[in-house]
Formats: sequence, structure tokens, C-alpha cells
Amino acid sequence: MEKFGQPLPEDTPTRVAVARHPLHPMLVPFPIAFLLGGLASDLAWLFTADTFWARTSLWLVGCGALMGVLAGIAGTVELLAVRGIRHRAASWNHFVVAVMLLGVSIVNWLSRLGDAAGTILPYGLFLSSLGALLVGVAGWLGGKLVFEHQVGVGDDDTDD
Ligand code: HEM
Repeated sequence: MEKFGQPLPEDTPTRVAVARHPLHPMLVPFPIAFLLGGLASDLAWLFTADTFWARTSLWLVGCGALMGVLAGIAGTVELLAVRGIRHRAASWNHFVVAVMLLGVSIVNWLSRLGDAAGTILPYGLFLSSLGALLVGVAGWLGGKLVFEHQVGVGDDDTDD
């Protein structure tokens, strides 16, 4: 109980980095672009009925889910390893939305494996739209971590 009411730890350095550049922000553009691209190609299939777009969606959603898992692993290690990050509610808000996004994206991809075109209506399109919404919320909350809480921007010269 003594912990409540104490100021948040100031130190929020990155621990998962290449030459002090945090790995998670380097990876997240891939799932963001692939998953939003997946929604765009679902819509292209809807308007053209060309199966090229159904196969494109299958690949985009699959690559988005895979790259999202890789980004999520980097983010989770950072979250658990750094005291100043794991003590912030904002980090856990971002984590919960990101895990929902990964769950939706994996189900979206797996459901398309047998029949890329046949599953787009209605579930594929619904899951791609939900995924795009979750990408927006997860990205927004991730941005808040960096720009408001300075997560991953501080110097790594403190012990946990
Ligand atoms: C699943 C677990 C995840 C965890 C625990 C997590 C954690 C974090 C952390 C700690 C940061 C602060 C920067 C850093 O220290 O690296 C961050 C930033 C961010 N995250 Fe995540 N993340 C997760 C997944 C995702 C996913 C799937 C996406 C997007 C599809 C995402 C999008 C972002 C964005 C856009 C930023 C801001 C990057 C910047 O502007 O520099 N995160 N996340």
C-alpha cells in the first residue's frame, strides 16, 4: 500500500535497442502499413471482384500479424524490463489495445487461409476494419508514451 501516492519513476530509457535506437518504433510502421493496406485491398476486392485483391489481402494481413507479433515482443520486453515504463498506466493501456489488435489480426489471417476471397464478406472485411480502428488507437496510445511520458527517449544510466 505504501507504493500508492508516490511519484512515478522518472527513468524511462530503452532497453531493446540497436545503437540506442529503440527497436519497437523501428518495427511498428510495418504492421501499421500492412494492416491498413489489408483493409484497402479488401475494399478494392469489394469494388472490383478481382481475386488478385483477395490474395493481396491474405498476404498483407498475414505479414501485418507477423510483424505485429515481432513488434509486440520488442515492446513487451521493454515494458517488463524498465521500471519507469511498467509503472505507468499509459503503458498498460497501450499493451491491452495492442494485444487486442494482434488477436484480431491473427484470426483475420487464419480465417482467410482456406479461401482468400470467400471469407472477405462479411467477417474478413469486419476484422480488417476493426483492425484498422485498433491500429489507430494503439498507435495513438504508443505516441502518447513517447511524446508525453518520454518513454524510450531518456538515458539508460539508471538501475531498476
Ligand atoms: C503487444 C505489446 C506491445 C507493447 C508492450 C508495446 C509497448 C510500447 C512501448 C514501451 C512504447 C514506447 C517506445 C519504446 O520504448 O519502445 C511503444 C510505442 C509505440 N507503439 Fe507499442 N507496444 C506493443 C505493440 C504495438 C503494436 C502492435 C503497435 C502498432 C501496430 C504499436 C505501436 C506503437 C507506436 C506507434 C508507438 C510510438 C512510437 C514512436 O512514436 O516512437 N505497439 N509501445
